[in-house]
Parts: sequence; C-alpha cells; structure tokens
Amino acid sequence: MSDTDNKNAKFRSQRGWFGRQDRDGFVHRSWMKNQGWPHDLFDGRPIIGICNTWSELTPCNAHFRELAEFVKRGVWEAGGFPLEFPVMSLGETQLRPTAMLFRNLASMDVEESIRGNPIDGVVLMMGCDKTTPSLLMGAASCDLPTIGLSGGPMLRGIYKGREIGSGTGVWQMSEAVRAGTMSMEEFTDAEASMHRSKGHCMTMGTASTMASMVEALGMSLPGNAAIPAVDARRATLAQLTGRRIVEMVKQDFRISQILKRENFENAVRANAAIGGSTNAVIHLMAIAGRVGVELDLDDWDALGSHVPCLVDLQPSGQHLMEDFYYAGGLPAVLRELGEAGLLNNDALTANGKSMWENVKAAPCWNREVIHAFSDPFKDKAGIAVLKGNLAPNGAVIKPSAASPHLLQHRGRAVVFESIEEFHATIDREDLDIDETCVMVLKNCGPKGYPGMAEVGNMPLPPKVLRKGITDMVRISDARMSGTAYGTVVLHTSPEAAVGGPLALVKTGDFIVLDVPARSIHLEVSDEELARRRAEWVAPPVPARGYVKMYVEHVMQAHEGADLDFLVGSSGAPVPRDSH
Ligand code: FES
Repeated sequence: MSDTDNKNAKFRSQRGWFGRQDRDGFVHRSWMKNQGWPHDLFDGRPIIGICNTWSELTPCNAHFRELAEFVKRGVWEAGGFPLEFPVMSLGETQLRPTAMLFRNLASMDVEESIRGNPIDGVVLMMGCDKTTPSLLMGAASCDLPTIGLSGGPMLRGIYKGREIGSGTGVWQMSEAVRAGTMSMEEFTDAEASMHRSKGHCMTMGTASTMASMVEALGMSLPGNAAIPAVDARRATLAQLTGRRIVEMVKQDFRISQILKRENFENAVRANAAIGGSTNAVIHLMAIAGRVGVELDLDDWDALGSHVPCLVDLQPSGQHLMEDFYYAGGLPAVLRELGEAGLLNNDALTANGKSMWENVKAAPCWNREVIHAFSDPFKDKAGIAVLKGNLAPNGAVIKPSAASPHLLQHRGRAVVFESIEEFHATIDREDLDIDETCVMVLKNCGPKGYPGMAEVGNMPLPPKVLRKGITDMVRISDARMSGTAYGTVVLHTSPEAAVGGPLALVKTGDFIVLDVPARSIHLEVSDEELARRRAEWVAPPVPARGYVKMYVEHVMQAHEGADLDFLVGSSGAPVPRDSH
C-alpha cells in the first residue's frame, strides 16, 4: 500500500481506493469518471455496493434493475454513492443440472466481489431460491455493513377462477394429467395463468421461506418477506433500505453483529410458524457456518418441531403470499411467537432496533391467513429430524406437508438407484409397487447428483394414482422443492454416493418410519449391511472444472452442504494494490 493512502479516511473505499493522492488514486478515480461521475463524489462519502442478481434467465429476479433504482434513490438521499454490480444469478427453473450445485460458487463470487471492490456497505438483492443463501453466505464471510432486500413474491395465480400457486399447482396438475383427469390443453393453458406478474414464487416455497428467513434473522427492514414485487410499497422498502445502509456504514454496523445465535434461533422458529421449506435447514446452517455460529440439525428439532404453523399458505395450506402480506406479513407472525415466549426479543436487526421493538405492535388483519398462537393452523409443524440405522447423521421431514396416517408406517422398499432409473420405470404397469410401499431414491445427495436436486418428492406410480391415492412414503438423500408436499423424508445423511446406509437398501427390504419417535429404521441385520457395504463401489469423481472441485469439497446435508474451505469468514480488509 502506498504512503500516500489517506489513512485517516473514515471509510474503506476512501482509504484503499478513492482517497489516494498518487498514481493508483488516479487510476481508481479516472476510470470511474468515464461513467460521468463528478470529482466531488470521491470525497469520502460511503460507497454502497448494490449486489444485483438480475438476469433474464432468472425470471423471479428479472425486475431487479428497476428495483435497484429505488435503492439508489435512498442511498443518494442519505449521502452515499451507490454502485450496482452483478453477481452470478441462479434461476431455479432454468439452470441445469440444479441451481443448488452453484449456490456455493455464487457465494464465492459475492464474497470476492465485495471484498475486492471499493465498497463500504452492501445491499443484497435476492429473490429466487438460491440467490438468497448465496448472497448471505458470501456477504457473511466478508463482514461489511450489509442489508438484505428481497424482490417480493408474484401476485396470485388464477386459473379458471381458482387460485393456483407456483410449483404446488404444477405438481397437482401434472399428477391430474398422469391420472387422466386433466387434458394437456388445459395444462398448457394454465402456464400463463400461474405466473402473471414480476416476482418470485408466491407459495410458501423456498424463495418466500428464505425471504422470511432474511427478515426473521434481522437482516432486512421489517416487512421484507411478503410485499408483492409489483406493489408500490416494495419500491418504498427498497428506497428505505438504501437510506438505511448508509447509516449502517456510518455506524460501522456489520453483518456479524446481526447474525448471532439468537437471530438464527428466531429464524428456525419462524420457519416452523410459516410452514417454511425444508431447504431453509441447509441454507441457514451454511450461513451460520460462515459466521461461526453453532447451528446443527438437532437444533431444528429442539427449537422448531414443537412450534405450530400459524400461516395457512400453500403448500401446507390454501392461501398465497399476496394474502399473507394483506394479513400482516411476517411481523404479525413474529409478534405471535414473541407473545408466546418463543422469540429472542433482544435480537438485533438491520434497522438498529431489537426484533421485539420491530414487531410488538404488528397488526393482523386476517386470522384465516395468519392464525393466533392460541388457535394455530397446524400443531407442531416444524421440521422433524429423524435418525436411525438408515440415517446415522439425520434426515428431515416436514410433518405439516405430510399425510398424518403415514407418519408411522412400515413398508416394503422399492428402490431406484438413480433419478434416471426412477423416470425410466415409475410409469411401468408391471412395476411391483402399491401404496403401502416405501419409495427409495439414491444418489441424489450433495455429491451424488451432484448438487442435491429437488427430486425427493417423487411422483407416484400411475396405478396408485388411479386409485385416488395422492401420497406414499418416499425417502431419499435429495432435497424437495419448498412448494412440494407429501410424506417425504429428505437429506438422508450420509448420502448414498459416499456409502451411507441408503446406498445399501435393496428392493424388498422393510423400512419403518416413526416420525413421533424421530426414527427411521432399515430392517436389515448389521451383518447383512456389512456384507453389502463390502460390495459397494464409490461413483467416479467428475474429471474437471467447478463440478470436480465441488464434489471433492462439498460437505454433507446435515452440515449445510457448503464447500469445506468456505466455512468461516476472512473479514474484509483493504486488499493490497498492485498497480
Ligand atoms: Fe424462482 Fe420459485 S422459481 S422463486
């Protein structure tokens, strides 16, 4: 670093970049001036990075350039200098083989983009499923003043006068087509009716869940989770977020001061109260790992499994995110938790206030959508963590989305070694399967797929569907879309691809699922399992590129599926300059 650095400058961007009175300072300022910025903007005011996941290939975030303009308004008003920058955008519906494969890669992009640039504070613009955890993970490892802004859910889907929800409606209608009760013409017709406005999925799927987690963690201004993308109040929130980040920089109020254990506990309980996605389990553990907060799978059960679901939203219920906002949104839910003694009231949030200060007067306008704690929508709705000889390190199930009569079940396993084998055989009429069987899918975990695809909610065989049966017990090392439902055991760890017990299950074995007892058991003797293990062959590691690095370093689902060398934080010092 040069002697001519402005060492007394208040902010990082000034000390390391724009405040230098030397050749390097010339370089840093001069190239920026090609955008027309006048010299006085480099006078030491806070530089606010707007980390934008806009992409036309991420339809849920396609409105983010417009939304960023409102953030900039707020930054200018508060005396900051906003600079927008792109990071890898992960579009859930387009990206192959699965967006989750790239969550950790995108987090590296975010972390190094923030650390390497002249930024004093950052606004994270997040929407589609993986864009939220990847930005939080990257920013958490960098530790600057940081605030989140979600893009907001789409308006309700409406088809033939009936509300249809993102994802959830697709699973329902595609099963109706397979059962012969809906035509392909109707199915195609429903496409434009389901997603008719800007925004992310409007069920309580993973995107809405993660937007809620951002708010429950205290990482955004209150109200972030539910305001529809096209509602003018989303733009207002963006502007207020822009104002607030400038204050946070002036106060040196960093992300590590918000992401504390008590904030994660609030998020885990909030996830139960909203009937949130199982994907939140993996994402929150990965974020916690970046800031050194202990959060493990057992915490999810201990903290959240007894918490009732208060929100009647698809896929667990009937309403959609638009209704949730009109009913009061997440602040109304958090208030219920607080009044029930289930909120860490003092947890600090991005606006500098405690969680309780933010939500203690939050109104609820519709008790059909947001139930009172004393009259919940569903009892004991949080994630349940199962263990046993089939999942020594745990597996998860979302009881609120499961069929009550299947929560204790013994059935004959029908095993699919891969998702390809599943697709090739499930529709065959000669497949030896009925509704009492347990469908087992292997090799779809973090290393196995690779990327841990959302295929755990396997469609049922047609011959079972034709009987009018809509649910069976399904077990895998995969994830499940947050918009999906059913008696689906997920995230089985260790996964099959590393030789976990799931790899050893054979068709015809019997499996006992007992959710109240938190147990999942394969009725095969230890001796027989040892014999099968001796015959097991590990799959090959991909030959090159990011996928090779990912498979060699990704951790198991019960650890958050981060890359092992990304756990933790490096802070955000001013890097050495090499001009
Ligand atoms: Fe983007 Fe659902 S596909 S939020």
